[in-house]
Amino acid sequence: MDHNVVSPHGSHLLSSFNADWNLSVQELVATESNKKQEAVSGLHQACLEAGLDRGSLVIGFGGGITGDVSGFTAATFLRGISLVLIPTTLLAMVDAAVGGKTGVNLPLPGGQGLGKNLAGAFWQPQAVLIDPLVLSTLSERDLRCGLAECIKHGFIGDPGLLELIHENRDSILAADPLAITDLVERALRVKIGVIEEDERETGGRAALNFGHTFGHGMESVERLELRHGEAVAIGMIAATQCAFELGRVGPEMVDQAREIVQSVGLPHQLPEPVDVHQLMSAMQFDKKTLDGHLRLVLPGDHGVEIVTEVPAQAVESAWAAVGASC
Ligand SMILES: NC(=O)c1ccc[n+]([C@@H]2O[C@H](COP(=O)([O-])OP(=O)(O)OC[C@H]3O[C@@H](n4cnc5c(N)ncnc54)[C@H](O)[C@@H]3O)[C@@H](O)[C@H]2O)c1
Repeated sequence: MDHNVVSPHGSHLLSSFNADWNLSVQELVATESNKKQEAVSGLHQACLEAGLDRGSLVIGFGGGITGDVSGFTAATFLRGISLVLIPTTLLAMVDAAVGGKTGVNLPLPGGQGLGKNLAGAFWQPQAVLIDPLVLSTLSERDLRCGLAECIKHGFIGDPGLLELIHENRDSILAADPLAITDLVERALRVKIGVIEEDERETGGRAALNFGHTFGHGMESVERLELRHGEAVAIGMIAATQCAFELGRVGPEMVDQAREIVQSVGLPHQLPEPVDVHQLMSAMQFDKKTLDGHLRLVLPGDHGVEIVTEVPAQAVESAWAAVGASC
């Protein structure tokens, strides 16, 4: 259970189980620096001490960090036990809790920062339970982060979703349950459609990483203190700029990406300049890199798709457009 949901929602959750359930509650401090193997080892130990067996169930109650860590715990304890996710952030509702990706960050070699989700497993939850009312206690900053992944889903597969976000942003940012329900349903439809075609990311699922390779580059720089959704927002602008540098899209597409990101109050550039080489070096550790070649998810005439062997010059220009120092 995410430590920040224990007080507002924990007792409500626990009171909904039948009395004969043998529950053991573990709290997780949900930060990227704590999303690491040690957290999973601690949970494995707690599973042992609580006497869990192959018929037991892990329930992840929290945001994307809690879901990824509890999912990886379930995937690896006794070679895999059942998992149910109850997401409590908008980002986890529309993205992280659905699709079966679990994992933790690894420290990059040579002290180069945090390598995002570099250890993990595909492990599908038995169920994902979504209650929009839990978002009443979520900060506006984290609601915005959820909107970043919704915007991503709009670009990937549902342009009307971008309009829905634009028109309803005030009620979404006020966590209005009806507005949230519409948004989550619509955004999830895109994600589920992609995963049903390609569960293990051998092809089309990579589209869901739009903005993420640039985003992970920024997330590796811990001093920026960017949330995942914020890094993805800036990353989508950088990826669109990169596509423009390659002649895949016109300048109006870059403007559109920047406008929608800004209109919901997400950052559109780095909070402080970072050396472009540091960012490009961190990008090399992205899971999509093959044989040392960077593969980026970029928009184009046929929608968002993987582009291989992107020239470094185009990537540098994309970074410069979001405030990196060259
Ligand atoms: N597995 C996947 O497919 C997938 C997809 C997208 C993102 N992710 C991962 O998800 C993570 C980001 O998820 P996130 O944005 O949910 O971040 P998060 O889990 O850090 O949650 C954000 C903050 O909100 C707090 N919180 C959670 N629910 C709350 C509530 N209802 N009320 C008050 N506070 C609450 C948390 O304690 C935390 O401080 C990243 O690590 C990212 O890599 C995974």
